[in-house]
Amino acid sequence: MSDALELAKRALQHFNEGSTDRAPSQMRIPLSAYTDESRFQAERDAVFFDSPIAVALSLELPDPGDFQTQTIMGVPLLLTRDRDGTAHCFINVCRHRGAKVCLQEKGHQARFSCPYHAWTYNNRGELVGVYGEESFGEVDRATMGLTELACEERAGVIFVCLTPGKAFDIDAWLGEFADKLADQQLTNWHLYTERYLQGSGWKATMDGYLEVYHHDSVHGKTVGPHTVGNLLVHDTWGAHQRMAFARKNIEELNGVPPESWAQPESHIRVVHSVFPNLSISAILGGEGLVGFIYPGETSTTTLTRQLILSAEIPTTEDEQTAVETFSQMTLQAVRDEDYALVATVQDALRSGANDSFLIGRNEPAVQHYHRAIANVVGN
Ligand code: FES
Ligand SMILES: [Fe+2]
Repeated sequence: MSDALELAKRALQHFNEGSTDRAPSQMRIPLSAYTDESRFQAERDAVFFDSPIAVALSLELPDPGDFQTQTIMGVPLLLTRDRDGTAHCFINVCRHRGAKVCLQEKGHQARFSCPYHAWTYNNRGELVGVYGEESFGEVDRATMGLTELACEERAGVIFVCLTPGKAFDIDAWLGEFADKLADQQLTNWHLYTERYLQGSGWKATMDGYLEVYHHDSVHGKTVGPHTVGNLLVHDTWGAHQRMAFARKNIEELNGVPPESWAQPESHIRVVHSVFPNLSISAILGGEGLVGFIYPGETSTTTLTRQLILSAEIPTTEDEQTAVETFSQMTLQAVRDEDYALVATVQDALRSGANDSFLIGRNEPAVQHYHRAIANVVGN
């Protein structure tokens, strides 16, 4: 049975029974999990610096010679694809006296000349030119290449570990979730637009990505009308999670034998949540929403890099309108609805009203995320 068929069957059953996937019990999370700065720093180090995180999609660097720069949690990165097609991630900092080597956001070039004193590196990070080396003195090129971070690419996602010298086993990290990601065929999609959103604290922000309980109340005009509120089909692979929602048209499947369902995927909406920071929401019909969510310097802020994808490059005016409409709708849903609501949570975390939050049985993915953090920190 295809995954979409299985998910649609589970979603339809919940729809007919007015039920949802549920955790075995409720969960209490102490407020200190959200507010304690020393705990935050320890978790940020363990989860975002010592473990692999997703930083980009392969489709952002489709061809050899493509590159991209980003600053993630204070670390300037230069992502490249070399002539063999291998993706690399370097700290975008010159080994001479520390200038940023590449100032462009993205482009296509195989060499990078530092703007300060013109040392030149290739897209494998090797130091290939030292301006005025006769006067400077000899430089040991073998040890003076760009600082490379462990970087692995799987299923259309580029993962790195932000701690220099620290390797990771991406296959062990993803496990069978890699197959679920690969099924999304992300490399076939196209980047329509990219934007950054400022948000509240890490956990309060992530909690909002991991439940459908709020959809009717918060998203009444955006995603709410299309999906059934408080209906979640939930699966986990290690720390990673998949959430499926029922679309309102799930009803149409009643009375039709599953083997005759022509497009089960058109009755559900599936979100893949790659621990700890990537949410991939592919929408049948041609558009997708991807969010990379990073904690800020303190427990009170996040930065989200949001990508809007389209299955095909929009060429006609109608296609252009469709993807732009989707882009605006998701911006409204995430920035003006989710993040605006979560800001009210963030503002009152220290109000004294709560000493813990009670996470419902119908919020299993929120529970799972907090347990996954504890697992990583405990290791
Ligand atoms: S800092 Fe880059 S060449 Fe001097
Ligand atoms: Fe939401």
